[in-house]
Amino acid sequence: MSGMKPAIYTTVAHDEHDERHHGAVTFPIYQNTLFSFAGYHQPANPYTYSRGTNPTVRELERKLAELEGGEDARCCASGMAAISAAILSRVQAGDHIVCVDQVYTGTRAFLEGWLPRFGVSTTFVNGASLPDLEAATLEHTVLLYLESPTSFFFELQDIAACAALAKRRGLTTILDNSWATPCFQRPLELGVDLVVHSLTKYVGGHSDALGGAVIGSRDNIRRILEKEGVLLGGVMTAHTASLMLRGLRTLPLRMERYRQTGRIVADYLSGLAFINRINYPGLPNHPQHKLAIQQMDGFGSLLSFEWDVPLEQAQAWADALRYYRNGCSWGGYESLVLVIAPLSELGRSEPGILVRLYSGLEEPQALIDDMANAFAAILAGA
Ligand SMILES: Cc1ncc(COP(=O)(O)O)c(C=O)c1O
Repeated sequence: MSGMKPAIYTTVAHDEHDERHHGAVTFPIYQNTLFSFAGYHQPANPYTYSRGTNPTVRELERKLAELEGGEDARCCASGMAAISAAILSRVQAGDHIVCVDQVYTGTRAFLEGWLPRFGVSTTFVNGASLPDLEAATLEHTVLLYLESPTSFFFELQDIAACAALAKRRGLTTILDNSWATPCFQRPLELGVDLVVHSLTKYVGGHSDALGGAVIGSRDNIRRILEKEGVLLGGVMTAHTASLMLRGLRTLPLRMERYRQTGRIVADYLSGLAFINRINYPGLPNHPQHKLAIQQMDGFGSLLSFEWDVPLEQAQAWADALRYYRNGCSWGGYESLVLVIAPLSELGRSEPGILVRLYSGLEEPQALIDDMANAFAAILAGA
């Protein structure tokens, strides 16, 4: 772990376009859908119609590309719009995809339940095993889809090794980097071709804007813009781009706070004898911690733990929390808890329930007291 990218705070604070727009310090929202031509014989304006490109959205794309170390980016209406556009840009009928088995449920539903309609099949593999990933690669495989860490069990893939395997086998790699953000992980530098994000999470940071992005080489992004971007039309609005630009300004600050809080919460849970396992790659006893510190510069505040109680008891604990609200997303200022399911329903042989915790910007001690009170209340009544 070498710490965040040098000068990241300056990158998010500084705009190349400060001198334009009468010195406005926030980039203006270009609300308009179309841009008129100066005249029939004038050189074309780079902007013609906001389903293609829009200056506010473009500014966000420029910044995201810079933060991820990519040449260009394309922003979309949601994380799923970005993920589906990135995948569709690489496949055609008859192709095969290899994907990590713990991938985000929406991505899995797209690959497993929707793409087969168009003759594209997917094999889901344990992403922690390079031999398994390699063994699943067939002659007609074109894409290796990664998500590291995953967002239920927080399992990692060895990103550089996966990218090298993909290069050897002629596959494109896509990696969902929503959990780590470019503050803590830059997969393009490790050889991945395309990074995708749900900007709805940490980047937006305020639970008030849905968005997604694909980042990669100029050529790959141009292909996505010209086809999946304008033809499927799942574009980001200028207003959303402005909210995302605002989120980016404080992203490193917030990630630093989440890093600290995440570790405090993970240490607290580690001290509870009745919790079976904490899934958080930042803990030194996490089975992939060595790989984690090799390829990441820090860890967020979304983790899960395994608790051997009946489902109703875990749900009663979640209901007893004051600051952690029941909710399925993450990345905002507010803390959330999600009682996911019995481990047996998630393909695990261990007993117990998987509970996911997202710690927001509250004082870590308030969150720990909140959990302790809820545990005391539930265990006293058990
Ligand atoms: C890891 C991950 N990737 C992608 C998505 C999809 O993002 P969105 O909800 O912005 O479409 C989610 C949403 O929960 C997610 O958790």
